[in-house]
Amino acid sequence: MFIYFNGRIVSSDECVVSPLDHGFLYGHGLFETMRAYGGRIFRLEDHLGRLEDSAGTLNWPVLPAREELSKAIDKVLQINNLPEASVRLTLSRGIGASRPDAASCGQPTVAVYASLLPQPLPPAGWSSATVKLRRNLSSPLVSIKSANYLDNMLARAEARQLGAHEAIMLNTNGSVAEGSMSNIFLVAAGRLITPHEMSGILPGITRRVVIELAHSADIPVEEREVEVEELAGADEIFLTSSIMEVIPVTVLDGRPVGAQPVPGAVTLRLARLYRELA
Ligand code: PDD
Repeated sequence: MFIYFNGRIVSSDECVVSPLDHGFLYGHGLFETMRAYGGRIFRLEDHLGRLEDSAGTLNWPVLPAREELSKAIDKVLQINNLPEASVRLTLSRGIGASRPDAASCGQPTVAVYASLLPQPLPPAGWSSATVKLRRNLSSPLVSIKSANYLDNMLARAEARQLGAHEAIMLNTNGSVAEGSMSNIFLVAAGRLITPHEMSGILPGITRRVVIELAHSADIPVEEREVEVEELAGADEIFLTSSIMEVIPVTVLDGRPVGAQPVPGAVTLRLARLYRELA
């Protein structure tokens, strides 16, 4: 496996991250997980734009140019011969002092890694469980893709303990936020409903594409606050992420979603439209 690491393509065992890198010391890093279809990243500019926004939230003074990152991604896909892949771009704040002073850091550490895609979804869709861990509405970290992913991992572990594939996280107001690694949608009376961007969610790239697809397919869309009871009474639920695309959710907290625990018609339609576009 070859990796782009700080301007060079190297074999994975040649990459060394310093113990004084603030990504390692303090979880001060950012990432993007992207999907390559036929050797090209879907919505690359959107991913790089989100990375820049996240870096702005963390007050990073410098970031590699979009062109450099885009070339690095192309090289990694080519050299590993992986036209269909999951691509992970990771940036950490770089090497600095052993105290939490970001101003002591030099250049960001940059890595691009491509890997095979995960197993396809089970035809019956995913099960989900509402977890105790909440998205903190007063933290700017919930809406950026920071490398500090411990809340998400704890939420997912909580869901797994409850026997579910994915966690559904509420926010500190008690409204629905998102999955631990995905955004959430529900379908009720033919309308597509999803928590708005101020609900403690990551502004997902797939989420945005699905909203655009719904608009063009004349499916009414509501981006707003979503109550837990609405989720429990939904006709359909699905999750979105760059790698898993549109994920039907057929079980919520041990109960079937809708009349029967099978993927719903609107979900399947949007999943198909997404596939056609990507
Ligand atoms: N996860 N919300 C969270 C908390 C996420 O981690 C992700 C993505 C999403 C969906 O974002 P997008 O549609 O831009 O992929 C929402 C990535 C795929 C990951 O787990 O690495």
